[in-house]
Amino acid sequence: MILKKYISDLRVYEPGRPIEEVARELGFEDIADIVKVASNENELGPSPMAIEAMRESISEMHRYPDGGAFYLKKKLADNLDVAPDQILFGAGSNELIVFLGHVFLEKGTNLIMGAEAFAVYFLVAALYEAETIRVPMPEHAHDLEGMLAAITSETRLVTICNPNNPTGTMVSPAALDQFIERLPDHVVAVIDEAYFEVMPEEQKPDVLKHIRAGKRNVILLRTFSKAYGLAGLRIGYAVAHPELITQLNKVRQPFNVSTMAQAAAMAALDDITHIVETREMVESGLRYYEQELAAMGLETVPSGANFILVKTGRGREVFQSLQERKVIARPMDPYGLPDHIRITIGTPEQNRIVIAALKEVLG
Ligand SMILES: Cc1ncc(COP(=O)(O)O)c(C=O)c1O
Repeated sequence: MILKKYISDLRVYEPGRPIEEVARELGFEDIADIVKVASNENELGPSPMAIEAMRESISEMHRYPDGGAFYLKKKLADNLDVAPDQILFGAGSNELIVFLGHVFLEKGTNLIMGAEAFAVYFLVAALYEAETIRVPMPEHAHDLEGMLAAITSETRLVTICNPNNPTGTMVSPAALDQFIERLPDHVVAVIDEAYFEVMPEEQKPDVLKHIRAGKRNVILLRTFSKAYGLAGLRIGYAVAHPELITQLNKVRQPFNVSTMAQAAAMAALDDITHIVETREMVESGLRYYEQELAAMGLETVPSGANFILVKTGRGREVFQSLQERKVIARPMDPYGLPDHIRITIGTPEQNRIVIAALKEVLG
């Protein structure tokens, strides 16, 4: 067989390791006490209302889903104060990033991203033979001026992950407004707000106001995988000008989002209590980690998301030693941060287990 050369050169994304896989590899018989803090999932689980909606949808599983997600689109559009034709759903926001690559990237074009930002951006760029321009991130934060300065006539997409995965840093709302206003017309700004629901209120930018005002080259990405606790169902959404949504819709497979995912997302949007509890868990968990890690003499990066980046030294070794103690964290060498690990904020009990394991590992 003869593969396309650029495909055979691609690296495979290393996701957070599933609990069962680690248990098989390390011979753990009991998986109940394994703590996974590797993928920024919601340790409270899905909203009880979403679980009920999923149960109710089971008897309809012989039918294809509504590819247009009519009811969910309508509900979300009302919530966000945009029109339904400004929304597109994907099998997770990852799929929406692939749509963006499909529509905008090819050989000779480039995508601009922060050097320590979400890996999927450059993996998708590579998938379409586009170049990735990585802009350094001083103090692990996006340098919006640097990103604007990096734009060339071949630039098609600039991605801003806010808060940034894996560093947790945020851009200031005013700086983001200015960035959007100064962006040249030939470039689309992709604002990835995967962790929006758990961000501190005063740090939340209003990207939607630009989209409502008719800005054509801004797209907002959000997901039900994080605060909403539905990562296993695979559903995320994009909000943009209707013209941009129409173009992206052309590369979407007709049934990319399942009936169950649509039902769960509808219910999750109504479950305000679940989101409030999630935010409280994340806020108090972040404070706990900051205190404990500082007391251990470890450097952390202030985070606006449901995870924290910690400088432990020898990140991959620490990750492996934690794994032997039934804690699955995330090594950060793929992000050029070999001395760091990333830890998802869990329940208070899980957080205590992680800190105890880390104390053992680091002596
Ligand atoms: C910044 C960011 N964007 C997008 C995603 C993709 O999430 P999903 O495809 O589950 O919606 C993630 C998941 O880790 C993320 O951290």
